Amino acid sequence: MNLKTRKCHKLKGDLTIPGDKSISHRAIIFASLAKGYSNLIGLLESEDCLKTLNAFRLMGVPIERNSKANYTIKGVGLKGLKEADRVIDCGNSGTSMRLLTGLLAAQDFYTVLSGDTSLRKRPMDRIIKPLREMKAKIWARRDNYAPLSIKGSQLSAINYTLPVASAQVKSSLLLAGLYTDGKTILREPGLSRDHTERMLQGFGVNLKKSGLSIELDLQKDRLEGQEIVIPADISSAAFFITAALIIDDSELLLRNIGINPSRSGFLKVVKDMGGDCQLINKRVVSGEPVADIIVKSSKLTGVNISGDLIPTLIDELPIIAILASRAEGRTVIKDAAELRVKESDRITNMISILSNMGVNVQELTDGMIINGPVELKGGFEVDSSGDHRIAMTVAIAGLLIDEPILINNSDSIKTSFPEFIDLLNKCSVT
Ligand code: S3P
Repeated sequence: MNLKTRKCHKLKGDLTIPGDKSISHRAIIFASLAKGYSNLIGLLESEDCLKTLNAFRLMGVPIERNSKANYTIKGVGLKGLKEADRVIDCGNSGTSMRLLTGLLAAQDFYTVLSGDTSLRKRPMDRIIKPLREMKAKIWARRDNYAPLSIKGSQLSAINYTLPVASAQVKSSLLLAGLYTDGKTILREPGLSRDHTERMLQGFGVNLKKSGLSIELDLQKDRLEGQEIVIPADISSAAFFITAALIIDDSELLLRNIGINPSRSGFLKVVKDMGGDCQLINKRVVSGEPVADIIVKSSKLTGVNISGDLIPTLIDELPIIAILASRAEGRTVIKDAAELRVKESDRITNMISILSNMGVNVQELTDGMIINGPVELKGGFEVDSSGDHRIAMTVAIAGLLIDEPILINNSDSIKTSFPEFIDLLNKCSVT
């Protein structure tokens, strides 16, 4: 599918952004492993999350859709999964593949995981290595790439320092850790999203956090079914927040947005840039902090983004690059080499897109330097490289530009945010 960008004069409205992708994956996983029924309310029905859902259906977990975004899962218990009789397709979803690998390494059966062209190029050695230290039996193409073959076995506990701050690696190891006798001890170099830790605690698991260390000690072999209300995805909201900030005379109310501190670095950057973004009705829902957000058009200034802030906004860096192109002065993004191994190489892609738009941008090995503000230009084509966030980033920038940009391969948007175009049409005043 192709998408042609359209200029818009302002954005107005009250929007409900769909459920958080990371939390949705985890809710499906832990509800499937619990005993008894769990109700998931506000589950993200995007392709990525449906891949995780389908994986558990293939492993014998009864899952029912009650209504839009509302599911009941009859958990089979930690030892109740069954061998899937086919390759499990993780599609575009790194979260599905990396989290499932940790879980499946400890099951009493054999599994093959594969995915689309983008996912089959993404590094899996970051989970294979530590899981092998736990005595997992995993085979991969060139010892790094999917398809992955996993022969479940008895795992041993691990005491491990992650080389990169990655919630997928951390969660994969915690899932494997649920099946070992000893204590799983993990240390992160920086805080990555902590949804797995919060949800495990919510399911009654003995998990302790202190600074950047996590200790998991499974003293009971049972997770209890729960009701889980999933907040709206801040990574999806970031596209609309950006649009409202950079388009004159705009104002949006975004409801029920997850503002977990390990995920909300984007809001800090918006504040540092001088963006008018107000958080109201702060509350905690199913163990996750949530707020409604009012955002208005603002005059922005460039900022430095690096270090520990990076893991808390890693998925928002492409859209932050657009904010930076409209901000007065220099924005420097550093310590973000992980961007090169996401659904696409997001540094290379953003450098090429920003250059086409007429932005003065400099590539760094681990980030970029953007000099603003610039009147963005259109009249070119981009390929999203199967990367949903690249496609949505260009669509948002296009709201400012007279001449359209043609986004090829925009189908990828469905992996995380199928309602993106409808919501954009709903609040755009052309
Ligand atoms: C995710 C973790 C992050 C993030 C991804 C979702 C998760 O990846 O980029 O979109 O749900 O755990 P890394 O763990 O590779 O940093």
